[in-house]
Amino acid sequence: MMENISQGEKMNKILIKTTPPGPIARRVVEEDAKYLVTSTKSLPVVANRAQGSFVEDVDGNVFLDFSTGISVLNLGHLHPLVVDRVEKQLHKLWHFAGTDFYYQEQVDAAKTLVEITPGTFEKKVFFTNSGTESNEAAIKIAKAYTKKQQFIGFIGGFHGRSQGSLSFTASKAIQRKGFFPSMPGVEHAPFPNPYRNPFGIDGYEDPEELENRVIDYIEKYMLRTYIHPDNLAGFMTEPIQGEGGYIVPPRNFHKKLRKLADENNALVIMDEVQTGFGRTGKFFASEHFGVEPEIISIAKAIASGIPMGAVVVRDKLNFSEPSLHSNTFGGNVLASVACVATVEAIKSENLLRNATDKGQYFKKRLNEMKDRFSQIGDVRGLGLMLAIDFVKDQKSREPDTKLRDKVELKSMENGLILLSTGLSAIRLIPPLNVTEDQIDMGIEVLHRVIKASS
Ligand SMILES: Cc1ncc(COP(=O)(O)O)c(C=O)c1O
Repeated sequence: MMENISQGEKMNKILIKTTPPGPIARRVVEEDAKYLVTSTKSLPVVANRAQGSFVEDVDGNVFLDFSTGISVLNLGHLHPLVVDRVEKQLHKLWHFAGTDFYYQEQVDAAKTLVEITPGTFEKKVFFTNSGTESNEAAIKIAKAYTKKQQFIGFIGGFHGRSQGSLSFTASKAIQRKGFFPSMPGVEHAPFPNPYRNPFGIDGYEDPEELENRVIDYIEKYMLRTYIHPDNLAGFMTEPIQGEGGYIVPPRNFHKKLRKLADENNALVIMDEVQTGFGRTGKFFASEHFGVEPEIISIAKAIASGIPMGAVVVRDKLNFSEPSLHSNTFGGNVLASVACVATVEAIKSENLLRNATDKGQYFKKRLNEMKDRFSQIGDVRGLGLMLAIDFVKDQKSREPDTKLRDKVELKSMENGLILLSTGLSAIRLIPPLNVTEDQIDMGIEVLHRVIKASS
């Protein structure tokens, strides 16, 4: 296999030798289509190896990776501390079924999560293998504790694709197409989207008014007309909607939602699968909104790419007896050591600070582009969870999905890996240790591509 950059050499710049997908990549893409079921493939990047913020493909092209494996590689690819810990663990113990037996590594990972999640109250952890599985566990915990069965989710929310989580997922209709009925008992409320206000562009532009409209809608319509509070186990929400388009709700929304839940003896399941682990400049995005969730779902960046998820719950929500819930791989030893190493690296390298600072810088540069290109309607996000929204016209804010898709593809051809989100946005989620130079490199590609695509 040809390689331009030798194994030991540092990757620090974009290098496009042959417009991707090159010949070897095309062969892999063809084989993939033959052997794998259809899923959500978005770009024909065929990775061979990676390092930090860069990925080399099988044809020797080097890309700047601002997709981080869908916000999984918050430390970048192959962080040395995580590599070291996992390598050492490889020769000791891999798997021992942490739900049925015991090992220190799982306890250490749970302790780490208890320490970094918001809230000083006692907590307990259940380890899973993915985001959707974390939400499935959260749903069962909420049902078991409240002895109630109904839930409210939010339009635009994404919580996974297994049947329980899918009943909450509502960011694209295709995700549910043909799968009804999923878990019964889930209704949806509008999410307070400040850019595309669900109550109409001309009214309720004020953030507080928008929050109140949503809370009122739930309280005065949903809970009075068709979901009796005695049946309401809880709400499921993301602090910032991820797959729905990186929608940051007004500041006090989550506090008001929690108050409403408390008043109705219901819980709030906070899905931090995408927003967690430092992405927004805090360990968890809930901290920006001043709430301490009693149930928090985690996955993605928790173990830097070794599959793992978790649900962290207030102690009192613990299952009341054994065997109500369990799994085989949860708390896997390799994942547990990777989780602890990930948190150590975020702390010791001051990456929450870096995510905040670099996020501000990145946002400033994106806003400069918005001033320049009328096709960018909105720049939004917190920390390094950023997005730009493409519109046909800044005034009507009509989504321009076609242009967004073109920018995503052309950026890839020019060496920048991006992922779309929502109807018309592109997310910008570099690793938390991204440098200003790398942000400039990405902006330069985006600028060039948008200019040529318009
Ligand atoms: C907020 C949120 N919850 C849940 C999930 C599902 O996670 P997984 O794909 O690991 O099942 C995702 C995935 O994108 C997500 O963004």
